[in-house]
Amino acid sequence: MARAFNFSAGPSALPEEVLKEAAAEMLDYKGCGMSVMEMSHRSSTFQSILDDAEQTLRRLMGIPDNYRVMFLQGGATLQFACVPMNLMRGRHAGYLVAGNWSKKAWQEACKYGQADVLATSEPTGFDRTPHLGGMPDQSLDYVYLCQNETVYGTMTRELPDTGDVPIVADVSSMFLSSPLPVERYGLIYAGVQKNAGPAGNTVVICRDDLIGDGPALGDIVPTYMGYKLQASKDSLYNTPNAWGIYMCGKVFHWIEETGGLAAMEERNWEKANRLYGYIDGSSLFSPIARPDSRSIANVTFRCPTPELDAEFVAGAAERNIVGVKGHRILGGMRASCYNAVPAKAVDALLDYMEDFERAHAADCRTDAQ
Ligand SMILES: Cc1ncc(COP(=O)(O)O)c(C=O)c1O
Repeated sequence: MARAFNFSAGPSALPEEVLKEAAAEMLDYKGCGMSVMEMSHRSSTFQSILDDAEQTLRRLMGIPDNYRVMFLQGGATLQFACVPMNLMRGRHAGYLVAGNWSKKAWQEACKYGQADVLATSEPTGFDRTPHLGGMPDQSLDYVYLCQNETVYGTMTRELPDTGDVPIVADVSSMFLSSPLPVERYGLIYAGVQKNAGPAGNTVVICRDDLIGDGPALGDIVPTYMGYKLQASKDSLYNTPNAWGIYMCGKVFHWIEETGGLAAMEERNWEKANRLYGYIDGSSLFSPIARPDSRSIANVTFRCPTPELDAEFVAGAAERNIVGVKGHRILGGMRASCYNAVPAKAVDALLDYMEDFERAHAADCRTDAQ
């Protein structure tokens, strides 16, 4: 059975080499007589897997020493609450709302303090990233953004200037897609199920001083959700998602061995730009995200009618192209070109788009070039 051309937004394609390596170690991890799923998280074997994963990630991203790295559970969604509970010391934060994920995070934060929407692109259907009008109030606890809105396919390329206010970013769908200036953020988090491993781990990278002596909201914060405790226990306060951490470690090594983050960025833009280029010149497909806000990972587009979208998605499956259906709140199509999606998958998708457009010449716009 041939591997699918998998454009799923997450969980998504993992590197074949990593999957093969994990398969080979499934019954016996390095002579332990068991898989990583079966061993104690307190064993020295697992400790070295965890240490290695963290060190490799630190090398890859250039994470400074004054930042803590945590592998937590609860998905990126739990961080919508963890962030305000830990960081809203003055009970006042600012949110840039660029799509459904930042909107959800903002709604969650409103439960714990004053969360102001500093800018939003909701009036234009989240087709672009919103910009801060000027320097934000310097008494804010943080300015929050979702740097890549997975559903709409938009990405913030330039971080806003927030002065001394720390930037908190959900980078789930662009994590490890390209280098990030870690020192410009107060906190970065990402669900790993797009570019870094199987679902079930969230990597949180937080500057020491923001963790402080404990959560902003004090003892009411569920023990598990306190960054101070999680950081002091090095992700081993309770049973972690050990298998997930092991897989993430392998993916981190794979990224390092295949050129690191700069190489990922180059390959990812090459894949995405081939699709954007075709869509821009097409008379049938139209792009959803505005050119200046386009994502490196999630390419969103649509046909003139929802019926044609459905036909496109169904026909794709017949060619072993999967995961191209747009998110249910937006419709249309979305091709997520994460690190492990090979260029040949994009070739297959482009061939299909061309054939589909040719077969539907009657539906094409006459105004298009
Ligand atoms: C940018 C972003 N943030 C948050 C989430 C929610 O992640 P999870 O399902 O891990 O809670 C997603 C899920 O796709 C996402 O793309």
